[in-house]
Amino acid sequence: MKTMIVYSSKTGNTKKVAEAILEVMPEGTFIHSVSEQPALEDCDLVILGCWIDKGNADAAMKEYIQGVKDKKVALFATLGAYPDSPHAGKVIERLKQLVDASNEYLGDFICQGKIDPALTERVRQYPPDHPHYMTPERINRHMEAAKHPDSRDLETAQKVFMEVLRRAEGI
Ligand SMILES: Cc1cc2nc3c(=O)[nH]c(=O)nc-3n(C[C@H](O)[C@H](O)[C@H](O)COP(=O)(O)O)c2cc1C
Repeated sequence: MKTMIVYSSKTGNTKKVAEAILEVMPEGTFIHSVSEQPALEDCDLVILGCWIDKGNADAAMKEYIQGVKDKKVALFATLGAYPDSPHAGKVIERLKQLVDASNEYLGDFICQGKIDPALTERVRQYPPDHPHYMTPERINRHMEAAKHPDSRDLETAQKVFMEVLRRAEGI
């Protein structure tokens, strides 16, 4: 069974998770950035990872996911929000909706990833009446995100995708 990991990553968080997943995949597993637009003809299992931009997959991965047909598919993502938050729950649902119904969906993983300091700085300038004003809660979330993905996130991702692999192999 041939497996391919395709990821998109602006600041490196999602790439880090992709590389951790690669470590537990069978020898010969391919890994590509979405910018390479890898062809998937020979692949059985396709693992797709993205960073979250405005509540959904970043534009490049959004387009790529929708073109994947007739495969075994699993998703992962990194985002600024807490992984157990309602926002993260909605994000996962939106990602799943991008997956074509011809695919067999085998699972997903999501974790925090440090937020681009340029974005944090921009948000810090927002006035108190702005919906994204830097409340103490938001500051804490950005500070927590700055610690991720950590070694525990990477281990959890590895466990999730070892299970995905077992499902893909029908074990
Ligand atoms: C322009 C921009 C928009 C973002 N939008 C969201 C968002 O809607 N929800 C969220 O939880 N995180 C959001 N984030 C945080 C990123 O998804 C997060 O930091 C991610 O780990 C970045 O991954 P990367 O290092 O692979 O690029 C945003 C970050 C940027 C820079």
